[in-house]
Amino acid sequence: MSEYATYQPQRPAGERFGNDVIRPARLADAEAITALTCARHALDPAVVRPRIDTELLALDGSEAGCVFVAEIGHHLAGFARARRLRHGPDGVPAVLPEGWYLTGVIVDPAWRRRGLGSALTTARLAWLRRRSDVVHYVANRANGASIRLHEGLGFREIARGFSYPRAELSPEASVAYELMLP
Ligand SMILES: CC(C)(COP(=O)(O)OP(=O)(O)OC[C@H]1O[C@@H](n2cnc3c(N)ncnc32)[C@H](O)[C@@H]1OP(=O)(O)O)[C@@H](O)C(=O)NCCC(=O)NCCS
Repeated sequence: MSEYATYQPQRPAGERFGNDVIRPARLADAEAITALTCARHALDPAVVRPRIDTELLALDGSEAGCVFVAEIGHHLAGFARARRLRHGPDGVPAVLPEGWYLTGVIVDPAWRRRGLGSALTTARLAWLRRRSDVVHYVANRANGASIRLHEGLGFREIARGFSYPRAELSPEASVAYELMLP
């Protein structure tokens, strides 16, 4: 699997899905979330699985953050997370605001462009509206599919040209967005 979806301006024909296939993640989703993560980044499941288990325990819908999944039939077709980030070695770079970030969405390539990425993001925004009046998101400028999705939901650029090693973003690649939550 390549890391980014191929940018495709025209929406392909096909069935679309909405919020009814989105639910909060459970610990039992760890295996499927690990598989999606490893397929995207070509990582070893034995290394990734403990991190996913820890994350699902921490981002349980409490004040640390949340994870949502898209489930179609019995297939976990995507997941997305949001978390509160602070400055520091494990946090966001000082040029970006501390606060709530959308920190990753992956949709199974076989289920892309059917509305799942939007639905996973809308679910996180609804969750965040009860906690904040603003949310942020960082991206690689090469990831046109993700940027178009977020701009379509109203995200506006606030910074670019920063270094964010933890997110594997160089100054040439980085861009950050924010969305006010009414
Ligand atoms: C980015 C990603 C999550 C989008 O998921 P998705 O379920 O395909 O997105 P949706 O079907 O909800 O698309 C919503 C809108 O985003 C935009 N979009 C999504 N994929 C696109 C693509 N490949 N090319 C151009 N625009 C795209 C479109 O505006 C689309 O609306 P439309 O279909 O009505 O034209 C998915 O491509 C993915 O998993 N990519 C790899 C992981 C990744 O890059 N994650 C983001 C950074 S962590």
